[in-house]
Amino acid sequence: MNNNIVKIFDTTLRDGEQSPGASMNMEEKIQIAIQLQKLNVDIIEAGFAAASPGDFEAIENISKVIETSTVCSLARALGRDIKAAGDAIAFAKHKRIHTFIATSPIHMQYKLQMAPEQVIKKAVEAVSYAKTFTDDVEFSCEDAGRSELPFLKEILDAVIEAGATTLNIPDTVGYRMPEEMGALIKELHAFVKNRAILSVHCHNDLGLAVANSLACVQNGARQIECTINGLGERAGNAAMEEIVMTLKTRHDFFNGLDTNINTKEIYPASRLVANITGIVPQPNKAIVGKNAFAHESGIHQDGVLKHQETYEIMKAEDIGLTNANTIVLGKLSGRHAFKDKIQSLGYQLSEEELNQSFERFKLLADKKKEIFDDDLRAIITDEIVKIPQLYTLKNLQINDCMNGMPSAAVCIEYKEMQTTDAGIGNGTMDAIFKTIDRISMIKGELKDYKVTAVTKGKDALAKVTVKVTFDEALPSFTGHGLSIDTMVASAKAYISALNAYSFQKESMHKRDRGGI
Ligand code: KIV
Ligand code: ZN
Repeated sequence: MNNNIVKIFDTTLRDGEQSPGASMNMEEKIQIAIQLQKLNVDIIEAGFAAASPGDFEAIENISKVIETSTVCSLARALGRDIKAAGDAIAFAKHKRIHTFIATSPIHMQYKLQMAPEQVIKKAVEAVSYAKTFTDDVEFSCEDAGRSELPFLKEILDAVIEAGATTLNIPDTVGYRMPEEMGALIKELHAFVKNRAILSVHCHNDLGLAVANSLACVQNGARQIECTINGLGERAGNAAMEEIVMTLKTRHDFFNGLDTNINTKEIYPASRLVANITGIVPQPNKAIVGKNAFAHESGIHQDGVLKHQETYEIMKAEDIGLTNANTIVLGKLSGRHAFKDKIQSLGYQLSEEELNQSFERFKLLADKKKEIFDDDLRAIITDEIVKIPQLYTLKNLQINDCMNGMPSAAVCIEYKEMQTTDAGIGNGTMDAIFKTIDRISMIKGELKDYKVTAVTKGKDALAKVTVKVTFDEALPSFTGHGLSIDTMVASAKAYISALNAYSFQKESMHKRDRGGI
């Protein structure tokens, strides 16, 4: 093992998905996994197999398409969780099971209601059982940041004995200071020696996740768990892009430590995750925020023009952000130029995806003066993660008067039949959604609504993300809509959530009848 390499364990699809509002459908997860492989992450935590049949299926499908990265499933220290994890990753070329149990006094006493000896016993049983599915087993001491050092040593010793190859030390509640976290890892590193790889998993509750993770690699950790754009439970996890670019930019400070990450895929990965989840990094977010490489003040602009390094410590090209993110194509651009452009952005589309995306590009180019790389990324993401379109929006007319009654007329196609209806609402959007409910005869409840501008300008593409519940027994469904017109984007997003719901209902129906 090269001791200068810090492994990157990406948990965007597991801890990242635990961000409020970040749930993803299977097709979306597969696209993100493919992008993570392009980034060359060492391990992809693809989900938590025992959590739901949908999670299981997503991990199984990711295991079938990923070739070079290790595919991992999370599992509590329970036999049924480990079996689900082992079965879900069965097809993966390189597979890992990540099992965990809480080790802090507060978690053991109140959450698990177990004595420390019982916790050790469970951990050992879990690791031993996981070893029957794969040699590559990771064990996590949940809430290690608030656990007692002697107990951590005791449990780590026991799981090493049982065969754990990676030991993860999470600061689950983001409580530790970098110096404390570093000192903990130093002590554990001296104890574990080279019996296993030490990993860290830091949450960002005090905004210290990246600083804490870096303090740990300085003290012997050789795996960092992190997510794209810092997504994750509550305030999120350590942001992968910040960790990777810090290690690259301050190679001198970190004594030559490296990662295997292809940094040119960082910006495309960030956009993909933002497009899919609808959670866009704030403009001043390090590395991938809209302003991360922008110079506003005259003094700075002047400096950069004279010599780039006056105000830039990294190159935008290194994260895959090229100057070509200006006007890229116009309405006169042909199919060939379009194909070249999207290939240069790293997409490999099927003939059908290419045709559909080109058609959408032409429609957009008719309405929008300048089309940017990010517009194309949004269109293509929308195209490749599309689930079957049972319902399609054919027409929408709205009457959005200030003092009258907001109303909408909607035409939807379903199984080759078009239905038109009109309705009123407490606002135009409400009128649109109610009319869609009436046509589909499925009542949805809007749980979340987000609109963002994909690029700049008055004619920017609007990207709408909605979360809708259609059935109390099922979680909410996410839908995305893209259009120059916010109301059209909203209608498309709502219908896309309806399609996700209908698709899941159909799949469940088929499964019940033994059809799949
Ligand atoms: O934050 C945490 O402790 C976790 C574990 C399951 C690794 O996410
Ligand atoms: Zn976590």
